[in-house]
Amino acid sequence: MKVLFATSEAYPLVKTGGLGDVAGHLPLALEQLGAEITVALPGYHSVLSKMATKVVAYASTSHGYALIREARLNSSGPRLWLVDHPLFSERPGAPYIDEKGEPWRDNSVRFGVFAQALAKVSAGQTELTDRFDIVHCNDWQTGLIPAFLSTESEKPATIFTIHNLAYQGIFPASCLETLQLPGELWSPLDGLVFHGQLSFIKGGLVFADHITTVSPSYAKEILTDAFSYGLAGLLNHRSHSLSGIINGIDTDEWNPQTDEKIPHIYSADNLSGKIKNKRALQKRMGLVENPKQFLIGTVARMVEQKGIDLIVDALPQLMKMPIQLVIAGTGNTAFEDALRDAMKKWPDKLSCHIGYDEELAHLIEAGSDTFLMPSRFEPCGLNQMYSLMYGTPPVVSRTGGLIDTVTDTTNTTLKAKTATGFFLHSMDITGLVSTIDNALKIYQQPNIWKSIQRNGMNQDFSWQHSAKEYIQLYKKAIE
Ligand code: ADP
Ligand code: GLC
Repeated sequence: MKVLFATSEAYPLVKTGGLGDVAGHLPLALEQLGAEITVALPGYHSVLSKMATKVVAYASTSHGYALIREARLNSSGPRLWLVDHPLFSERPGAPYIDEKGEPWRDNSVRFGVFAQALAKVSAGQTELTDRFDIVHCNDWQTGLIPAFLSTESEKPATIFTIHNLAYQGIFPASCLETLQLPGELWSPLDGLVFHGQLSFIKGGLVFADHITTVSPSYAKEILTDAFSYGLAGLLNHRSHSLSGIINGIDTDEWNPQTDEKIPHIYSADNLSGKIKNKRALQKRMGLVENPKQFLIGTVARMVEQKGIDLIVDALPQLMKMPIQLVIAGTGNTAFEDALRDAMKKWPDKLSCHIGYDEELAHLIEAGSDTFLMPSRFEPCGLNQMYSLMYGTPPVVSRTGGLIDTVTDTTNTTLKAKTATGFFLHSMDITGLVSTIDNALKIYQQPNIWKSIQRNGMNQDFSWQHSAKEYIQLYKKAIE
């Protein structure tokens, strides 16, 4: 089975969030099950400048030719195709936003060109002899691929995975002409129009043979108005072709027994290294090195989705509790500024790293006692799974993939040895503070806390199960 896996990020080459982690590892897991995967990424400046590639094809687009460059995702990993176009290769910086944090003004053309080039390759319209059975697209940046392919007669089956419905790639109607999109795609009901504008994500949602999202619970939530950002009608219409497959995690990269990014490795049977990591984290973040202080960690993109504003609003109450709080993240400047101010107010108890730091993210997972993730919605979420693996029972909201991966601590789940974390009592300051207070009380009973840690650490979040589900789906789509 030959699969073209189109994505706008893939770890370790380029990552801004969970999509990078998923695209960095799922293709590997699919290959281990016998599928032949080619990962296709935009040829970002940062990526092309660090690897050797060879040009294997030229694809014509509305904005000149794009070169298809071939390499490997990593030494033993899948084949990699980089779509080299000046809008990517001559543009240093982040994949989606400029230095002011605003989306690149020409994102419609950049990802439009990316999609056109891959549609040409998949429809056999370049010198490449490769033919794919499946094109697996991810998020709005790849949404136009199924749309372009819908106008072709010879085409592979298409899967579109929603990693986050909040990001849809909505652009002015004039982009239809700029991108030379076939006029037949310009329709609100069965085309790309969304309230008079051009929607990239609709390309995937309308035209892909099958739609998946990254957890069964989120697959249900997005059928409701509260979670669908205006797309509930379309998604309900396509509900027979929509399913949720929970993400896995890279258990080589995120494993406390082997993690090279943390100072002390440890396991469920011997947690002594975790306490040393806690000290290292307290030191690194300039907090008092007290092994007994309940240390709460958070790593997140600083956006409303992640409930960062709720944490900020709860600080006056949280900071009265016997806790320390460590936060790493970057994103919305208002949230970043609010945290900088708060650090000045509570320097002994709160320490934030505003920025992206992969190594610190590992240390926070390893050194914290609990991981706080009060997301307003969470398609899957990887950090709560990392936390479970690292013996850091998470405090999470009851939504999306968090429901599917965390088991709340109750008398019943404690007895059944299934308790792994804590669900917020309610999605407000009172709920956040009372849940953390409850977790703290349990932390003060070390035997119970250890059993919750071990329950989490003994779970299997490897990609194997989910990769099998994708293979089944690919087979169904081909039929
Ligand atoms: P999302 O994709 O919505 O951001 P996930 O929980 O699926 O959420 O994945 C987030 C990924 O991005 C995790 O690997 C997390 O560690 C990483 N991450 C987010 N912000 C930072 C940061 N500031 N520094 C390092 N890693 C980060
Ligand atoms: C998105 C979601 C997150 C998910 C990730 C990978 O960014 O916000 O919940 O884990 O994609 O699928």
